[in-house]
Amino acid sequence: MSGAVCGLRWQDGALELLDQRLLPAKQRWLRCASAAAVADAIRDMVVRGAPAIGIAAAYGVVLAARAAYAQRGSDWRVAVVHDLEIIAAARPTAVNLAWAVQRMAGCFAQIAGDPEPVLLAAACAIREQDITTNHAMAAHGAALIDPGSRVLTHCNTGALATGGHGTALGVIRTAHAQGRISEVFVDETRPWLQGARLTAWELQQDGIPARLVVDGAVAWLFARLRPTWLIVGADRIAANGDTANKIGTYTAALAARAHGARVMVVAPLSTFDPATPGGEAIEVEQRPKQELTCLAGQAIAPDDFAAWNPVFDVTPATLIDAIVCEHGVIEQPDTARIAAFLAAAGR
Ligand code: MRU
Repeated sequence: MSGAVCGLRWQDGALELLDQRLLPAKQRWLRCASAAAVADAIRDMVVRGAPAIGIAAAYGVVLAARAAYAQRGSDWRVAVVHDLEIIAAARPTAVNLAWAVQRMAGCFAQIAGDPEPVLLAAACAIREQDITTNHAMAAHGAALIDPGSRVLTHCNTGALATGGHGTALGVIRTAHAQGRISEVFVDETRPWLQGARLTAWELQQDGIPARLVVDGAVAWLFARLRPTWLIVGADRIAANGDTANKIGTYTAALAARAHGARVMVVAPLSTFDPATPGGEAIEVEQRPKQELTCLAGQAIAPDDFAAWNPVFDVTPATLIDAIVCEHGVIEQPDTARIAAFLAAAGR
């Protein structure tokens, strides 16, 4: 698989998702023929990564509108509302999900007759735009990296997490092709192991030199092997630049800062949430404790042991050196710089 490929396809009138829970051991496509099936797939981590769940949600709106039109004809706009709410609520932290549902709903007014062709074109456009955006971000981000650098990335932000190429992993792909990256470190990313299973797999497919580390090795990695950048994606960027991303990002950013390495966040404009003033207002998804107390179906903690399982954390803007998006780079982000940047970008 290369960065040009991703884990979603529209096939014979339904959304098919490469089941990311099984990768890299098994490649199995799951067919979603209803909005509820798409919402379940997002909630259950069949598809994950902020841009990818936004794209899946857009196709879910197509399926919702098709069902509503079959049921209620020209009153389909009323019948579709419930499904839109179910899709938007599937996961709370990644703002791309609500963004995609809103963007699809923004097309409703112009539709006469069967909504499916117009909405399908809109969903495909969101996906195409995401790929273009990722290549633009990759060029901006790569330019910040000195030739021959070592970098650390967290979670999976590659082709599987997006429409293709990736956000943080897109920067890494492009920077490696330009000779700027000599080695990538990937942390495991407990508990779903997006780093060990997905990022490692994508890097291996592309032949990019990389090594895996346990999450707990990150500070020691910065101390000993001296990667110069931590490069991560984002699920939501507040107005002041505080950034929600996979749990462990904050820890890695603290370790990077303590050792003189820099922190790059790579995310499209759709991940910015100017309505949320700062990180304390971001809803952080909590998932079942069994994700921590079991591993591959085996209990690894005593029976009935309690757990706290927030699956994202918020890295304060003060720890971030650069936010890279399709319109360029925001260095040392704060409320004023982000507001000026978004205004110039037309948001
Ligand atoms: O729980 P996940 O796997 O959906 O979390 C994914 C992340 O945190 C990614 O870093 C983020 O969505 C950016 S993906 C391009």
